[in-house]
Amino acid sequence: MRIGKSTWLAGLVVISLALAGCAGRAGQPAPKAGSAGPAPAPRAEQAAKPPLKIGILVPYSGVYSKLGESMTRAYELYFEEAGGKAGGRQIELVKEDEGDPQTGLRKVRKLVEQDQVDMITGIVRSDVLAAVRDAVHEAKKILIVANAGADVVTREKKSPYIFRVSFTNWQIAASQGEVAARLFGKKAVTLNPDYQAGKDNVKGFRDTYEKAGGKILKEIYFPLGNADFAPYLAQVKQLNPDVVYAFAAGSDAVRLVKQWKEYGLLGQIPIISNGFMVEEDVLAAVGADAVGHYSALSWAYSLDTPENKAFIEKFRKKYGVAPDVYAAQAYDAARLIVEAVNQVKGDTTNQAALMEALKKVTFRGPRGEFKLDPTTQNIILTMYIRQVQNVDGKPTNVVRETIKDWKDPGVTR
Ligand code: BEZ
Repeated sequence: MRIGKSTWLAGLVVISLALAGCAGRAGQPAPKAGSAGPAPAPRAEQAAKPPLKIGILVPYSGVYSKLGESMTRAYELYFEEAGGKAGGRQIELVKEDEGDPQTGLRKVRKLVEQDQVDMITGIVRSDVLAAVRDAVHEAKKILIVANAGADVVTREKKSPYIFRVSFTNWQIAASQGEVAARLFGKKAVTLNPDYQAGKDNVKGFRDTYEKAGGKILKEIYFPLGNADFAPYLAQVKQLNPDVVYAFAAGSDAVRLVKQWKEYGLLGQIPIISNGFMVEEDVLAAVGADAVGHYSALSWAYSLDTPENKAFIEKFRKKYGVAPDVYAAQAYDAARLIVEAVNQVKGDTTNQAALMEALKKVTFRGPRGEFKLDPTTQNIILTMYIRQVQNVDGKPTNVVRETIKDWKDPGVTR
């Protein structure tokens, strides 16, 4: 199934992934004249289980729209591979554009109250996740987070209904502190978007950079969806640190990487970032301007495993473009849902059993071993320290170091 561009922009899209149509009320025979009521349903219909309604809440507009598009493609790819079913129920997707925290909260309420979805998945922005946490928790609605990294949701605001297959911001940022101090030096400047994810990232980086003897000279913040990085890059130049630790994603990342080069900083001041900043979506737009950048992420296109190769091949075949980390996360989220719902044989009303099943699912996915920490319900990651290098004339994230079993501590340190 292919979704056209205009469909991404639609506020609400309900899609049945039915391979064979499921008989609905409209398909029932009309009552015979003189009969007391509707004719008995045919046997097949009596046995049919209701569809499994899944709300997909991701950005289809704004700075992170490409992330939402990639995630949706990966969800659809996996659900299609699963035959469009989980636990014998036809999968039906209700898609919503997550927007900002207020919009995200409104959309969650709609998915819960109006659409009555069985569960929700997606969410890209940390501030949206933090904003919807209480609504999800109070509604006892299962949420499978497939991107947003807000630390608090794995710590003080942990909920038994929330499972995260992506990362906490701490996991990505803190994996780089020791590496930055060892490879580049002990004086850093941080460059991050001015919202929850940026703030979490700086804390995470500070945590391990300072333990490694590093000192942060200045925390620089830019607005999310920033048009021009010149004033921030001028500050970096003037401070002349040993290394810059940055985070940007989507269109912010494209602009920042391009301007980093234009301002003569590439090759002058080492930069290490959350790998979103030089992910496949960004490399496709900036090309050689990213060569030399270091980053950390739980995935790399170049990972040479059978699971990653198969995933890349299927994604490319269906969509004609390379997947990225957002697709890998959503693909794993879709598999987690299908495997857990299969285990409870489609009975999502037995929520306790479904939540137990969700905690226990393990498999080998594109990022490696998939396993949730049973205490926090947040993924245990393998982190890859990558450098963009020219490989056969193509900018490629080459894995330089690997950090295994990287867990969020589950408490603020
Ligand atoms: C976040 O807000 O958590 C986020 C957004 C884009 C990429 C990674 C994290």
